[in-house]
Amino acid sequence: METAIELRNVSYVYGDGTVFRTDALDCVSVKIEKGKMTGIIGHTGSGKSTMVQMMNGLIKPTSGSVYLFGEDIFADKKKLRDVRFRVGLVFQYPEYQLFEESVYKDIAFGPANMKLDTNEIDRRVRKAAMLVGLEEELFSKSPFELSGGQKRRVAIAGVMAMEPEVLVLDEPASGLDPVGRNEIFKAICSFRDVTKGTVVIVSHSMEDMAKYADNIIVMNHGECFASGSKDEVFQRAGELCTMGLDVPQITSLITRLKSMGMELPDNIYTVEAAVKALSPLVCGRRGGEC
Ligand SMILES: Nc1ncnc2c1ncn2[C@@H]1O[C@H](COP(=O)(O)OP(=O)(O)O)[C@@H](O)[C@H]1O
Ligand SMILES: [Mg+2]
Repeated sequence: METAIELRNVSYVYGDGTVFRTDALDCVSVKIEKGKMTGIIGHTGSGKSTMVQMMNGLIKPTSGSVYLFGEDIFADKKKLRDVRFRVGLVFQYPEYQLFEESVYKDIAFGPANMKLDTNEIDRRVRKAAMLVGLEEELFSKSPFELSGGQKRRVAIAGVMAMEPEVLVLDEPASGLDPVGRNEIFKAICSFRDVTKGTVVIVSHSMEDMAKYADNIIVMNHGECFASGSKDEVFQRAGELCTMGLDVPQITSLITRLKSMGMELPDNIYTVEAAVKALSPLVCGRRGGEC
C-alpha cells in the first residue's frame, strides 16, 4: 500500500498551562492509504476534528510528526501553503463560510487564491460543479437562495476545485436529510472515481462508513482504538458496541442470527450484502423456489 498521509506519535494539547487544558490527541499513529476512502469514526470529543486539521497543516502537533507522501509537512514553513492546496479540508458545516454573491464565485474562490489563470479557474469550477451535481443554471444565483444540501455542495465544490490530492471532509453529511446525505456521498464518490484521489471522511455514522469507506480509523478519548480495512475493523463489532459506538444495524442482526446458529459470513455490513447471504437460506426453506 502507498501511504498518502501519516501521523506519527502525534499528540495535541489545547490550552496548555491553563485550567482548560485538554489532551485532544494522545500519541496517535495512523496511515491514510493513497487512492482509498478512509472513514474516521468515534464519539464527540474523541479528537477527530483535531486530527484532520493536522492533515493539511492547519494546526501543528504539540509533539509528533505529520507526513504527506513521506515528507514532514512542518519541516519547511514555506511549503505549508502548498500543503493546504494539496490537502483540501472541508470543515463541518462549510456552508457557513459561503460569502460570495454567486455560486460561481464561491466555487472559484479557492482556485483564484492559487493564482491560476481565468481559463483554468473556469475549467475547474465547471468540473467541480459537475462532480457535486450542481447544474450550471445555478452559477449566477446567490448561494443563499439554495437549499441546505445545495449550499453544502457548493462549499465542497469550492475545495474540490483546488484539485487536491487528498480531500478531507469533517462530518460532510451532518444535519442533512437522507436525500441530502445521499447527494453529498454521491459527490464524494464521483470525486474519488474521477480523480482517483485519496479521501478522508470524519463521520459518526457507522452505516455510512460501512457503505462507503474502504478503511476505517476508530478514535476513542484521543487515542486510535482501531485502524485497518473495513473488514478488519468491523470484525471487532463486539468491542465497538462495548465502547458505545453503534455498528451498522445489519451487522448487529447478522451477529444475532449467527449466535442463533445460522451459518453466515463475518463481513456483512450493508443491507445488499445481507440480502445476498440470506436469500439462499430463505429460499432453501421455502423448498428451493425463489
Ligand atoms: N478550540 C478548542 N479549545 C479547547 N479545547 C478544544 C478545542 N477544540 C476541541 N477541543 C477539545 O479537544 C477534544 C477533542 O475535540 P475534537 O477534536 O473536536 O473531537 P471530535 O471532532 O471527535 O468531536 C475535546 O475534548 C474538545 O472539547
Ligand atoms: Mg468534530
